[in-house]
Amino acid sequence: MALTDFLQNLDELSTAAMAMFSSAGDAAALEAARIEFLGAKSGRLKTTQKQLGGVSKEDRPVAGKQFNETKQKIDAAFKEAQQRLSSSAASPVDKPQGNFDATLPGATFRVGRLHPITQTIEELKDIMGRLGFSVVEGPEIEDNWHNFEALNIPLEHPARDPLDNFYLATAQTSNHDEMLLLRSQTSTVQIRVMEKTPPPVRMISLGRVYRPDTADATHYPMFHQMEGLLIDSHVTMADLKSVLRLFATSYLGSDVHIRFRPSFFPFTEPSVEADYWWNDNWIEFGGAGMVDPNVLQAVGYDPEEVTGFAFGLGVERLCMRRHSITDIRELYKNDVRFLHQF
Ligand code: DAH
Repeated sequence: MALTDFLQNLDELSTAAMAMFSSAGDAAALEAARIEFLGAKSGRLKTTQKQLGGVSKEDRPVAGKQFNETKQKIDAAFKEAQQRLSSSAASPVDKPQGNFDATLPGATFRVGRLHPITQTIEELKDIMGRLGFSVVEGPEIEDNWHNFEALNIPLEHPARDPLDNFYLATAQTSNHDEMLLLRSQTSTVQIRVMEKTPPPVRMISLGRVYRPDTADATHYPMFHQMEGLLIDSHVTMADLKSVLRLFATSYLGSDVHIRFRPSFFPFTEPSVEADYWWNDNWIEFGGAGMVDPNVLQAVGYDPEEVTGFAFGLGVERLCMRRHSITDIRELYKNDVRFLHQF
């Protein structure tokens, strides 16, 4: 018999034996495999050993060496299978399936984590919760009344421009056609809460808003805002400033200074932009003001009885400053190499 043929037989025998032993699921299957391959009289290993005599004299040392190695390998596979089956029989409760080897060292695996924006939202809720603000959610698809009208934003106001909003198909309501849009601000939730709840009110709402901006390092067509609203008797601008200062020192650090700059929003009077001092710069972190009497009237409150303040902050900005993220687009690429750093 040619050496190459003998070696090939050995190779096939070894492959078949390894497969049988490692897949043997119980003692009976293992015993059948043992008889087939290691049987003393007519096992396949024995048969192959007999072929050794037919290999030429000069090739026999090579063939014999290979035969012995194969035999050892098959013996070892049999013993391993024996051990595997006896240990699984001892603990039938968690009997491993197939080739599971409980003795292999454990491998680390990556656990997922919350998105940095979700982490920021949780922290903001926590801070505001300690100041007594409860969390409210509002819909992302809004109508004109909640996104504009009730917020004192008249029909001809540029904020309603179709180029600045994601208008959706017109919805047919019972008595008129209504234009729906993806909300452009979370101030909508102020209206929804006041319509349902008599004063006093002390709430925040965090969620997505949508504007057709071209994405760049500081803009994205979807981002998050935290809206705040406090309504009670005798609420003043001093209360607004105290709350925003407490918020800023809690989130950014106890030595942070804030300032108010005069501004304009249709739903507040007076209106301000709030800045904090950071690295020798004033950095804007949101808009705020005293709720306009027109808004209070729109929801059925009496502006002679109650006053209040409101604010709207950008969540991405706060998150980016905290983590030194310089491009907002990184937050929404879903690249785990970026996300797993937070
Ligand atoms: N809604 C405003 C915006 O998206 C932010 C804002 C300003 C919210 C003043 C307020 C506020 O509640 O009082 O630009």
